[in-house]
Amino acid sequence: MQLLDGKFVSEKLKQEITAEAAGILAVKGRKPHLVAILVGHDGGSETYVASKMKNCEKVGFKSTLYRYEETVTEAELLNKIDEINKDEETDGLIVQLPLPKHIDPEKVTEKIDYRKDVDGFHPVNLGRMMRNLPCYIPATPYGILMMLEEYKIETSGKHCVVVGRSNIVGSPMSVLMSRNTYPGNCTVTLTHSKTRNLEEIVRSADIVVAAIGKKNFINADMVKEGAVVIDVGMNREISSVTKSGYKLYGDVDFENVAPKASWITPVPGGVGLMTITGLLKNTLASAKGEIYR
Ligand code: GUN
Repeated sequence: MQLLDGKFVSEKLKQEITAEAAGILAVKGRKPHLVAILVGHDGGSETYVASKMKNCEKVGFKSTLYRYEETVTEAELLNKIDEINKDEETDGLIVQLPLPKHIDPEKVTEKIDYRKDVDGFHPVNLGRMMRNLPCYIPATPYGILMMLEEYKIETSGKHCVVVGRSNIVGSPMSVLMSRNTYPGNCTVTLTHSKTRNLEEIVRSADIVVAAIGKKNFINADMVKEGAVVIDVGMNREISSVTKSGYKLYGDVDFENVAPKASWITPVPGGVGLMTITGLLKNTLASAKGEIYR
């Protein structure tokens, strides 16, 4: 078994991003700029957004965070998005999900100017991704692709089983792994909560992408000898042992699955770090005018 080391790959890519950010500052007279909106006080969202902002600073980006209480109205939020869309000195805008129930996430996603949608959630970016056109690829799938590329994992002709069909990870990942490019050219099976014979299907996978949101869901019996295992799980549990008071668990039972896998991502230290790298890469691409002019 070998580790797909998100810490190593993300640090390497962040060095490259840092150099490019310095170049942009020299040419444009300003840093690449990511704006994030966070509504409420969900513990997970707070942690993820703080980490996104911290990583922006690390690579020499400007970051701005707008915080709202749970009680913010949908109209207020949409107005703020409109204002940021028009700001010429903002390259990327993300609204952290989930949102409170009274706010429609579809309206929010579509309100963001697709040219600043560095999360890659806007229908224009998703549509362009389907057609293999330049677009912002959702950060987590993008991060996974970069990791597969870094370790030169063969994907062509392989059976990739994606477990979970979320808009953020499972669904775009299934599209990306089937595209006629590298990484890609897989035969993809997208599985979900209504899938029959899930265990059997996962057992036939050369590449497993676990994005279910359930601790240790993928066990050793479900994984073929030699499979590549990508764990997207970020299941937080209260812990008296860690400094933060929380411990993070993946969707894969790492201890028992790792001996069977050819390659596997750890949690923490795997996909989570690559997600942030994906977001930084998209923000950089926006600042460079690489995708939309
Ligand atoms: N919530 C969980 N993952 C994400 C993400 O990648 N972007 C945003 N905006 N919200 C999320």
